[in-house]
Amino acid sequence: MVSRVIPVEAFDLVLLGATGDLALRKILPGLFRRFAVGQMPEDARIIGVARRPMDTAAFRASVEEALAQFAPQGAGQQDMRVRFLSKLHYTPVDAAADTGWAPLKDLLREDVVRAFYLSVSPSLFGSIAAGLARHGLTNAQSRIVVEKPFGHDLQTAAALNQDLRLGFHEHQIYRIDHYLGKETVQNLMALRFANSLWEPLWNANHVDHVQITVAESLGVQGRGAYYDNSGAMRDMVQNHLMQLLCLTAMEPPARFDPDAVRDEKLKVIRALRTTPESDIVRGQYRGSDPHDSYRDHAGAPHSLTESFIALKVNIGNWRWAGAPFYLRTGKRMRARASEIAVVFRAPPHMIFPDIAAHPGNVLVIRLQPDEGITLVTTIKEPGLGGMRLREASLDMTFAEAFSDSHTKPQDAYERLVMDVIRGDQTLFMRGDEVEAAWAWVDPIIERWERAGTVPLAYDAGSSGPEDALRLLHADGRRWRAIG
Ligand code: BG6
Repeated sequence: MVSRVIPVEAFDLVLLGATGDLALRKILPGLFRRFAVGQMPEDARIIGVARRPMDTAAFRASVEEALAQFAPQGAGQQDMRVRFLSKLHYTPVDAAADTGWAPLKDLLREDVVRAFYLSVSPSLFGSIAAGLARHGLTNAQSRIVVEKPFGHDLQTAAALNQDLRLGFHEHQIYRIDHYLGKETVQNLMALRFANSLWEPLWNANHVDHVQITVAESLGVQGRGAYYDNSGAMRDMVQNHLMQLLCLTAMEPPARFDPDAVRDEKLKVIRALRTTPESDIVRGQYRGSDPHDSYRDHAGAPHSLTESFIALKVNIGNWRWAGAPFYLRTGKRMRARASEIAVVFRAPPHMIFPDIAAHPGNVLVIRLQPDEGITLVTTIKEPGLGGMRLREASLDMTFAEAFSDSHTKPQDAYERLVMDVIRGDQTLFMRGDEVEAAWAWVDPIIERWERAGTVPLAYDAGSSGPEDALRLLHADGRRWRAIG
């Protein structure tokens, strides 16, 4: 089979926070997989950096252990693993104490792409960006990679952007929203802009409404302290769901290039109408055992933080006026299931009397767990018995449709890291997008805080509070089942 892997150019990837959980669990195993498929050139190097004093041999040993757990060995990969480990180096840096920069600088090469991946607490972003610039570690080939949370509100996000710009220009800053690295999310763009079928229908004249659901079955155990200071609105809606909404709603960009795509997404965020409180349902999960409840997991017995949110969002532009977007996301729900469902209007004149209650055609883009695309249609039930109609799905599950190893969906992180090396910012958030999303979210959160709004209890393992159902019932619509 012809390999579809396009090798990237030589690079020095400096992984700051290299001994942390995300680095060992996701980033390094992802890099190994890319190395194993031949995407990394022989002279690529990964330089682990953290505060802890340690030598390269010890770092390689800890990565070897992580690979055994998170990138289980395939047949014949032992040799591959040894070659990958030989690319790793380690040097300690303490950004807060401003020490260790010089040895790191000595390790870097001048003539290759230089990427600094900050897998560290956002509170260190500023001192690291400034340290890199002050000690002369940046050059025209440098880029910096950061992960959410990008601030806690507009003000802190703007300060963070300012910090990053101390050492880097916007075109060198890669803000990861890992949802943009998901296979189906990119497929949404292909579906919309590489086919002529959908675009004429992709507006309020033909679309009744859109539902975006990101349901998780796990609770907040283990990260309750972070989560309780954040809640579903900050943790999921401001970033992941907003990005899904933007890609679904945006105008076709003139070109598939980073700024053309991001300009269109930004216009969507700026067109969002303020959502009134009556169009929002907040919830907090409650287990049958009190130790399985949000407040217990969060370690906050009186918490008013939402672990679930459903809201109706109106986009004030010509394309979408009159076709709302309903968003919902929650922890500890009945299944892990995420999808975008575009619900089309019913036919204007129905000649089959028994189809009056038909919900209309639905195009479902499934993000997880079974990535794929489904088109719900109405057909005649095969066989005798007259003109009996029923719903049927044209279904494409990617894992079944594309089974060779090069087409299997990749982990979002590894795709995004390779995009950083390539210098492709299309799947990364621009600073103005992040700030615009906060500008929309902030007044809603401030309203709750001012009023002390108490989230509604919902049973762990359910579809969220009953009121979330009513949000759609009130409009004569209903949510699709979760899972
Ligand atoms: C993270 C959130 O950004 O995304 C988590 O902080 C959430 O709370 C996670 O669980 C969901 O990611 P995925 O890829 O598992 O859907």
